[in-house]
Amino acid sequence: MKSFAFVNSVVLLALLLLFSSNNFVSSIMDDSSSSNTNSRMLFLATNWKCSIESPSDADALVESMNDAWSKLDPASIRNSIQLTVHPPYVFLDRIRQKLHPSIAVGSQNIYDSAAPNRGNTAATTTNMLSNLGVSWVLLGHSDRRNNLGEDDDLIAEKAMMAIQDGLGIVLTIGETKEQRANGETLAVLEKQLGTVAAKLPKGGDDDNDVWNRVVLAYEPVWAVGDGAIPCAPAEAQRIHGALREFLQTTVSAAAANACRITYTGSVNPENAEGYAELSEVDGFVVGRAGLDAAKLTSIIRTLVETKKKLAAAADSSNSEL
Ligand code: PGA
Repeated sequence: MKSFAFVNSVVLLALLLLFSSNNFVSSIMDDSSSSNTNSRMLFLATNWKCSIESPSDADALVESMNDAWSKLDPASIRNSIQLTVHPPYVFLDRIRQKLHPSIAVGSQNIYDSAAPNRGNTAATTTNMLSNLGVSWVLLGHSDRRNNLGEDDDLIAEKAMMAIQDGLGIVLTIGETKEQRANGETLAVLEKQLGTVAAKLPKGGDDDNDVWNRVVLAYEPVWAVGDGAIPCAPAEAQRIHGALREFLQTTVSAAAANACRITYTGSVNPENAEGYAELSEVDGFVVGRAGLDAAKLTSIIRTLVETKKKLAAAADSSNSEL
């Protein structure tokens, strides 16, 4: 009996040592962080800006998108990506009613002040949007920062309002040509992101879903527009990696794992694969290419299929080890 009890204690002690050893704990943590990384759902937003100005043009684009989206296989493509469409405010209701139910609708903005109240003429509140079935909002776009005078503080207030009221945000950040030439890229991006992040919950047990509803869109302003030099994929990968690292150190590991970082600016069917191959790219925000349903679905297919190929290659090299 005595020797049986002794063996039991030795086994118990060995198990305790094993469970408390750093290696064991860190191997569990490594596993969970890598599975979190792999479980980030791909994301693609299309930003219509002011390109569509009549209800009939909006209807025609929705019809062609519905048609092209319906032809993508749900099991292999559609279920692997979250797609959101961002029309101008005036078409939101119409689009939500007509768009394929598995495509989300987002706005291009919300309230333009940090102090919403019912006495403000022409403002659009988060509740108005939620009540229409809108679930995402674009914030911080370079058009609004550079042409319409929005600053980091206002964008951060709007981000907080949207997140508090249950919407998801697509936060665009990006440096200008001049800032890049002066070597200020990371400082600019960290200020744009950091000002917003400081207003949001850190992510973790109680507010775990918050950073699932924050999508970053890195848009190098210098690389956008006709005639601009495109951002090389290696540079996009480096910047996205630095942004995730910034989230990890200034917000939390949970936020860094959950937040999708998308690439933005002149993405089209020809260059999509080069960006989709980057491990730090979780999707795209597209402007012009999103106004053509065939181009849009070509980008979606490329994104999903490229990521699947990379995951399969990683799986097979892991199983060979
Ligand atoms: P683009 O626009 O894809 O036409 O460059 C993207 C955006 O600015 O949102």
